[in-house]
Amino acid sequence: MSDLVVRGGTLVQPDWSGPADLHLADGVVRAVVAPGTPLPAGAEVLDATGRLVMPGGVDPHCHVGFTSGGYTSLDGYAECTTAAVLGGTTTIVDFAIPQPGQRPVDVAAAQRAKVPQGLCDAAVHASVVEWDDTTADQLRSLVADGLATVKMFTTYRGESMASADTILKTMQVLKESGGMVVIHCEANPIIEEDQRRAAERGEIDAAHMAGTRSELAETAAVAEVLAIAETLDAPVYFVHQSTPAAVELVAAARRRGLRAYTESVAHHLVLDDSLYDGPNPERWVCCPPLRDRATVEALGGYLANGEITTVASDHCCYDTAQKVSHRHDVRHMPNGLPGVQTRLPVIFSTYVATGRITPSRFVELTAANPARTNGIYPRKGTLAPGSDADLVLWDPSARWTITAGDLAQATDYTPYEGIEVTGRPETVVVGGRVIAGGGRILDATPRGRFLPASLA
Ligand code: URP
Ligand code: ZN
Ligand code: ZN
Ligand code: ZN
Repeated sequence: MSDLVVRGGTLVQPDWSGPADLHLADGVVRAVVAPGTPLPAGAEVLDATGRLVMPGGVDPHCHVGFTSGGYTSLDGYAECTTAAVLGGTTTIVDFAIPQPGQRPVDVAAAQRAKVPQGLCDAAVHASVVEWDDTTADQLRSLVADGLATVKMFTTYRGESMASADTILKTMQVLKESGGMVVIHCEANPIIEEDQRRAAERGEIDAAHMAGTRSELAETAAVAEVLAIAETLDAPVYFVHQSTPAAVELVAAARRRGLRAYTESVAHHLVLDDSLYDGPNPERWVCCPPLRDRATVEALGGYLANGEITTVASDHCCYDTAQKVSHRHDVRHMPNGLPGVQTRLPVIFSTYVATGRITPSRFVELTAANPARTNGIYPRKGTLAPGSDADLVLWDPSARWTITAGDLAQATDYTPYEGIEVTGRPETVVVGGRVIAGGGRILDATPRGRFLPASLA
C-alpha cells in the first residue's frame, strides 16, 4: 500500500476546521500538515479541492443480521458495511443480543467472529437480558475482551426485556469493571397499556403506530434508569431518545455530575409521524415511533445546544415483505428502519446545509462522540496523528434525491424515498485505501477488524 496524501481540502475535526493536508501511511494518519507541504517521495495524491475532509462516520447503533420477534434483518457484515461505507461511515457498532436461554458471552463471541467479513472495522455491544449466578463473571470477561458496552432493554417482554433488578446489578458490575450500560428505555407496563387501548379502539395497525408507544413511556423509563445509575454513580448511555423531555432528564443528570449520555437517531431528527397517515405506513414502524413535527423540531434543537451526545442510525434492514406481513398488528411486526447509508447525508442536509450546526459539530455527533462513548477514540472518530486512516471526502453542495434503487442497503425501500438532500460522500478511505468513490465500491476486499473497546 503506497502512502497517500489528501491535498487541498478543508479538514473538519470535532474541535476545529480549516485548510490542511493529510499524510496517510501504513493504515494510519502520519501527519496533519499545512496546505501545500511538500509530499513524501512516492506518495499518491488524493485531490480534495472544494471538499470537506472528515473522519469517517462512526455509527454507534447498527443491528447487523438482527433477530427479534421471529424476524431476522437481511444483511450480514459484507452488506451492512458496504452500505455504511457508501454513506461515509467507516466504523459500525453492532449488537450481540441473546435470545432466551443464550449466554451473553457466547452470543458476543459469535457476533464478533463475523466482523472480518466487513469492509470496515466494527465494535460490538454485548447484552444482558436475565441475571443468573454466572452473569457477573461473564460481564467481567466481556469487558476484559473489549466488549465494554452492554445493551439492555426495559421493553420487549419475553424477548430482550430486563428487569430493574437486572439493570441495577449489571450497572454495578460494569461500574466496577470499566464498562457501561447502553439502554433502550420505554416503560413496558405503559407500552402494553398503550397497545391494549389502541387494540380496543381498533387502532393497532401500522397506520396507528404513533399512538401505540407514548412519549410518557419513554420518559418514565429514562427517569427510573437514571435513578438507578445515580444511586450507583454508574455511567449510562440512552439509545434512540426521541423526545425533548427524555433528553432534558439526561441533561439535568449530567449537570448533577452523572456520566449520562443521549443518543438520538437520524429518523427521529428528520421524519415525523405524518408518514403513518400516508401509503405504506409499515415502512416507518420503529421503537420509539416517529413523533410529531413539533417534537422533531424541538429534538433537533438539542443537536445545536450540545445536549445530544451522538447521532446513530439504529439500522435494522428489514424489507417490505417483512414489514407488511403483520402490518395489521404492530405488536407482531418487525420494528426498525434501514439507515446506515443515509444517516450522514440526511443529518448533514437537514442540519449542516441549513446552518443549524457546524461541520465540526456534525463530526462530533456522528464520529468523535460515538467513538468516545464506545471506547475506540482517538483510533476512530478523528484524524489525529496515529488515528486509523478512515476518512471521507464530502461534497457539501451536491444536491441529489434519495431513492432505494441507488442504495446498497439489503432491502427494497428507504424511509427517505424521494427526499432531496444537499451534501454527499464522494470518496471514502478505509485503513489508508480508497475503497469507495463516485457512489461505487472500488475495493470490496473484506478487511474488517474487531475494535476492542476501552472506557477506562
Ligand atoms: O425499532 C427498533 N428500534 N428496532 C430495533 C431494535 C431496537 O429497539 O433498537
Ligand atoms: Zn431500541
Ligand atoms: Zn436498535
Ligand atoms: Zn397477525
